[in-house]
Amino acid sequence: MEFQAMVAHETDNGISLIRETVGDDFLGPGTVTIKVHFTSANYKDGLGITPGGGVIRNYPLIPGIDIAGEVFASDDADFVPGQLVVAHGYDIGVAHHGGFAEYARVPAEWVVPLDGLTPREAAALGTAGFTAAMSVQALLDQGLTPDDGPVLVTGATGGVGTVAVDILAGLGYEVVASTGKLGASELLTALGASSVIGRLPGEGEKLRPLGKAQWAAAVDSVGGQSLAHILSAIKYGGAVAVSGLTGGPAVPTTVMPFILRGVSLLGIDSAHFPIAARRELWARLAKDLKPRHLALLENYAPITEAESVLRSILDGTHSGRTVLGVAGEF
Ligand SMILES: NC(=O)c1ccc[n+]([C@@H]2O[C@H](COP(=O)([O-])OP(=O)(O)OC[C@H]3O[C@@H](n4cnc5c(N)ncnc54)[C@H](OP(=O)(O)O)[C@@H]3O)[C@@H](O)[C@H]2O)c1
Repeated sequence: MEFQAMVAHETDNGISLIRETVGDDFLGPGTVTIKVHFTSANYKDGLGITPGGGVIRNYPLIPGIDIAGEVFASDDADFVPGQLVVAHGYDIGVAHHGGFAEYARVPAEWVVPLDGLTPREAAALGTAGFTAAMSVQALLDQGLTPDDGPVLVTGATGGVGTVAVDILAGLGYEVVASTGKLGASELLTALGASSVIGRLPGEGEKLRPLGKAQWAAAVDSVGGQSLAHILSAIKYGGAVAVSGLTGGPAVPTTVMPFILRGVSLLGIDSAHFPIAARRELWARLAKDLKPRHLALLENYAPITEAESVLRSILDGTHSGRTVLGVAGEF
């Protein structure tokens, strides 16, 4: 079998995505071969084509941390040809060929059967949407209820952010969306945000160990100074689910929010989230956690335009989730 793929190559001038015809043996080991219908563009995919980005371990590699499509062939009794599936996390698009190709091959233990979502919806959610769901679930597990007060979402126009705003608003929470793109207020309000504010801390605002307690909880994919500021403004007993670092990895905080307000910091990692819990959460993404406005936050581009979409994620001009069409788009 020969098929089309976008392959990331490291050259003297950086990392480029090159369209190539590859053979079946290029895919390497795995028990389930997936005919890819859609993949998507994530911040992590952007880092994968950034020199020193620290995501892709060896080049050449087919990037794409999200794979959504149908089983083409399976050596595992749990999966049959034609079955609709999604796969993400583990080594996919990092150290194992990912979704930027007509076919992908992965171990059955990485595959999630789709029930109640189309492959396009699964790609629109993708790793970012799944991370938003994990973040919301972590806050619910802490006992958060709508009566506790407003919930802050940072990086609100991003993949994690838009899906988190949509899920939380759908569950009846008052959502405050923090964004650097104030032109996106209309989109965020349409997704269910009650109010839209700028990035945190505000211009000229000093970081303090404790500030006015404003938010019951937060979904944070920004990290950095923003996370330090949020921690200082979480209400007594509240929690922050942190998944990302678009604002930087170093968080200049103190112990004060933790020891004087009982604030909890909840770490969210989607990559190694165990498969049984992963399959359960995907099932809930088709039911009670299903975002109500996926069509609003979704953009579409053919896979051949992946590189320019990823560059827009890296330069901060992208918003929402971009589904990359694979089947029929090479
Ligand atoms: N832990 C995990 O398992 C996991 C899974 C998925 C993603 N992540 C991480 O979560 C983060 C977001 O991922 P994503 O796919 O949602 O990315 P994305 O779609 O690019 O969204 C990131 C958002 O962050 C904000 N932002 C960008 N640059 C910023 C800066 N310098 N300072 C403050 N805010 C900035 C922007 O929102 P506004 O313009 O609206 O402010 C941007 O839309 C990334 O760091 C990613 O690696 C982690």
